[in-house]
Amino acid sequence: MFQEFPLQDDLIYLNHAAVAPWPRRTCDAITRFAEENMTRGARDYPHWLEVERQLREFLAQLIGAPSPLDIALLKNTSEGLSVVAAGIDWHPGDNILSFAGEFPSNRIVWESLGDRGVDLRLASLDDAADPEQNLFDLWDERTRLVAVSAVQYASGLRVDLERIGAFCRERDLLFCVDAIQSLGALPFAVGGCHADFVVADGHKWLLAPEGLALFYCRAELRDKLRLQQYGWHMVEAAGDFSRTEWRPAPNAVRFECGSPNMLGIHGLHASVSLLLEMGMQQVSSAILKNTSQLMDLTEKYGLELLSPKARQRRSGIVTFRVPGQDTALLHRRLMSRNLICAARGNGIRFSPHFYTPPEQLQRAFEILGECV
Ligand SMILES: Cc1ncc(COP(=O)(O)O)c(C=O)c1O
Repeated sequence: MFQEFPLQDDLIYLNHAAVAPWPRRTCDAITRFAEENMTRGARDYPHWLEVERQLREFLAQLIGAPSPLDIALLKNTSEGLSVVAAGIDWHPGDNILSFAGEFPSNRIVWESLGDRGVDLRLASLDDAADPEQNLFDLWDERTRLVAVSAVQYASGLRVDLERIGAFCRERDLLFCVDAIQSLGALPFAVGGCHADFVVADGHKWLLAPEGLALFYCRAELRDKLRLQQYGWHMVEAAGDFSRTEWRPAPNAVRFECGSPNMLGIHGLHASVSLLLEMGMQQVSSAILKNTSQLMDLTEKYGLELLSPKARQRRSGIVTFRVPGQDTALLHRRLMSRNLICAARGNGIRFSPHFYTPPEQLQRAFEILGECV
């Protein structure tokens, strides 16, 4: 399995929460696709459509969606969130609940509804002991939607999706989950958390190229989202170009207006096949083992941990601060030593994946020690 990640020997890659390296099979699939395009063009397009069909199956399996027909392939997470935000029939005075400190894509899109009289209410995550309760406290009769990230991008805090989903269900609220920091790292069950919408781009924990995202919309809600983009591909009889009447496709393809990102589809298909072969239970237990090791090392080196320690709150992200150190400067130093990581949430964010060897985590802290 580890030959799937032939990263340069002099590099420690702890940045899957930003942009991940591709596995070998993804590089191979994309190289083959490029060769094929160069030598035969799109002669075998039906085969590409088969890869696309199978990718929807893989993604449905990954999130436990009832059907592959519930999955649309969009450009990125921001686009998926925008499809939801722009598609709902808001009324002035409606409100949306979310957390303070969400990634900008999961805030700006809701703020953009301000000119339609929709209010965004942000719950604090400072009291990480019970963030869901902070969210519930903001609810009132005009709340229509709850929008959260499954895992917070800066601290790695894992939100209790089941609890929020149950709350939404009891009050008939829509539930939108930005799963980009969770899918490919932790198991995900759309049924368990009653999510109505799930969005995640492929370039982080899913180990795929940028620019292709999964968008799940609960089948019963499809007709309720007003479409924003139109074209030949999103109609029921796509391919019958001489037809003049049209209806949106009955499935999630209605959210895809034109030609698909076939290059991205081949990449994401290969990457997700690897995760499914491994099994998400195995992937996530390896990731959580890394997280434990990183937390132990943080303590051993006397650093200030900014990620939650409680087991049920952990994810693949560990963020910490080095007391008395300028984080931006330290980050530049680490990067110059080929320790690939990020500066987020006033700290250094490490995010190894399941294949990262424990010795590299140990070594990362030695390098850190040399840099301060
Ligand atoms: C929680 C979260 N949502 C959304 C995004 C951005 O996603 P995209 O570029 O696919 O729109 C990121 C990227 O870091 C993220 O961490």
